[in-house]
Amino acid sequence: MVNREPVIEIKNLTFTYPNNFTALKNINTTIYNGEFVGIIGQNGAGKSTLLKNITGLLKPTKGDIIIDGVNTKEITVARLSTKIGFVLQNPDRQLFAETVEKEVAFGPRNLKLSEDEIQARVKESLAYVGLEHIRDKFPPALSKGDRAKVIIASVLAMKPRLIILDEPTTGQDYRGCHQIMGIAKEFNKAGHTVLVVTHHMALVADYAERTIVFCEGEILLDGSTREVFAQPQTLKKSFIIPPQITMVGSSLEKELGLQEICLTVSELGDTVLNSSKNMA
Ligand SMILES: Nc1ncnc2c1ncn2[C@@H]1O[C@H](COP(=O)(O)OP(=O)(O)OP(=O)(O)O)[C@@H](O)[C@H]1O
Ligand SMILES: [Mg+2]
Repeated sequence: MVNREPVIEIKNLTFTYPNNFTALKNINTTIYNGEFVGIIGQNGAGKSTLLKNITGLLKPTKGDIIIDGVNTKEITVARLSTKIGFVLQNPDRQLFAETVEKEVAFGPRNLKLSEDEIQARVKESLAYVGLEHIRDKFPPALSKGDRAKVIIASVLAMKPRLIILDEPTTGQDYRGCHQIMGIAKEFNKAGHTVLVVTHHMALVADYAERTIVFCEGEILLDGSTREVFAQPQTLKKSFIIPPQITMVGSSLEKELGLQEICLTVSELGDTVLNSSKNMA
């Protein structure tokens, strides 16, 4: 459900840390309403620095970031957090309340909403991530998967227009990865924008329609996920190997004459079936 209304405009963004290390070098890109964007790149490429600039935790050294028409230099982080939900890399650092319910209620309470509205938002957000049954539990004692979901629920309770997740699937098992990405996809299907940083290429292929690749503080590639994974030689510069299934498909290109770039197992299956029908 992408309409071409920009939600994040990044214009000539350069960011230099106080130790003079320039982590982002003249970045230009626009994210549109309703997109699901994967952000990938080697360790230290600048992905988290970019997300912190978007969420206003860091301010551009040069250039501008416009969120929903407002420059991040002219808005407080607190105000931005009602537009952008941010799940940090190492999300456990975001947990601090003694129950799941209090954790999720914290943001809405800070907005000074009515008690009825706070309770409605807690209920809705916990239902969204499937955790209503553990609302009285102590968050740090939960499984890693459930802790991540509590953070996501607390972010959704702010009713943000877009969510940004920095490596939400690190350390999660297969099921946990797909549950978290599934929650993000639901949010996206409801018309919201999602940005996800991850090192799991198969998840990018499964969920993100667009992918931006970072390499040493610059954008290496920015396009549809299919176009991006069709360029393994360029991706090597940022030490990225396309998903295994894409590589299998590419190797069959020579064997079976397959032309298409496949992103998922079912796509590869269909492509092989079609090609064998054509050969028969
Ligand atoms: N507070 C800081 N002061 C100085 N340099 C920093 C600081 N934080 C990050 N950097 C450097 O900036 C560069 C980009 O870091 P960043 O955390 O944005 O990378 P990343 O792409 O998120 O990497 P990863 O995949 O490992 O999370 C790295 O070289 C990092 O060492
Ligand atoms: Mg990072």
